[in-house]
Amino acid sequence: MQAMNPGEILLPLSALRRPKPSSAAEGELLDGLGRPLHDLRISVTDRCNFRCTYCMPRDKFGRDHPFLSHDDILRYEEIARLASVFARLGVRKIRLTGGEPLMRKHLHRLVAMLAEIPGLELTLTANGALLARHAADLRAAGLHRITVSLDALDDASFRRMSDAGCGVNEVLAGIDAAAQAGLPVKVNMVVRRGLNEDQILPMARHFRGSGHVLRFIEYMDVGSSNGWRMDEVFSAQEILDRLGSEFPLEALDRPTPDAVAERWRYADGAGEVGVIASVTRAFCRDCSRLRMSPEGKLFTCLFASTGHDLRALLREGRDDEALSAWIRSIWTTRGDRYSELRSSAAPERQKIEMSYIGG
Ligand SMILES: C[S@@+](CC[C@H](N)C(=O)[O-])C[C@H]1O[C@@H](n2cnc3c(N)ncnc32)[C@H](O)[C@@H]1O
Ligand code: SF4
Repeated sequence: MQAMNPGEILLPLSALRRPKPSSAAEGELLDGLGRPLHDLRISVTDRCNFRCTYCMPRDKFGRDHPFLSHDDILRYEEIARLASVFARLGVRKIRLTGGEPLMRKHLHRLVAMLAEIPGLELTLTANGALLARHAADLRAAGLHRITVSLDALDDASFRRMSDAGCGVNEVLAGIDAAAQAGLPVKVNMVVRRGLNEDQILPMARHFRGSGHVLRFIEYMDVGSSNGWRMDEVFSAQEILDRLGSEFPLEALDRPTPDAVAERWRYADGAGEVGVIASVTRAFCRDCSRLRMSPEGKLFTCLFASTGHDLRALLREGRDDEALSAWIRSIWTTRGDRYSELRSSAAPERQKIEMSYIGG
């Protein structure tokens, strides 16, 4: 692995040469850069019970924030119908996200509808606060896996990051409930320099040997409200150096070329950790993800400014074939690779918020 200075951006050679991405199979729907459509992230709400400082800082997401209204957001029946169209176009995995997806009432009913679509892997990303009471229903409805976000083990650090009314124990109880319900669990920790890098080792010690995969995420410049600065990014290399100072690590292969995390295992066999280096080691080349906002707009990149209004077509009464043709036209003209180009100092523009599109 190449050593990096904090703040340095490593542009992969793949940004210059672009053969067909290795994740594409014959006959698949490909975008303008030859990338297949495999992965759909559905944000079911833009509301959240936390105010993580890097996502929904309280001064920007107060009572007067223009959250979407109930009529704006897609109903579960609408989401399920669109999901079946996406599945026929090649989507293999759906991740439900938000905002906090468990703020939507009876989310397990949506999971049950999606579970009827053949061939889909169903996952959910949640902040954990409401998970203890919903984990068993979600599992019974057909959820396959879950990712829980937790940025610190120390309660004061956790509250500093999440600005939430709950503490670490509620999130840990949610993780336990998910595991007891039979859901494989991943834990996501965003690392923001100066706020929680001291929690890398305590988190690693806690989750080593638990069977849950802990994944460290570089703080990203999604949205505009968090006032992101490059010097607050604690790089993947720094995270690995910190981990390696206590636990020898061995590199593992990515399970698929379009997987977002670099994987490592503890040399003593105590399990696996991941690092998501979205800033310092951009992975646009294999990005097979499409994102749908709560009111049914399609975004071809996490860093896009505008979406494509699928809800309008849906509510106009278009049939599945028309919806499918429209989605095809969006995907086949896609050419986004924002993260690879980040360092070329593109002019500042309004970007969608993470709490709206869901990560
Ligand atoms: C937007 S949240 C939505 C789901 C849920 N509320 C949660 O926190 O897990 C999805 C993921 O994005 C991560 N996230 C939010 N803002 C981020 C940022 N600026 N940089 C990196 N990750 C971020 C969160 O930590 C979480 O793991
Ligand atoms: S990261 Fe998740 S829990 Fe935190 S504010 Fe954003 S949506 Fe809410």
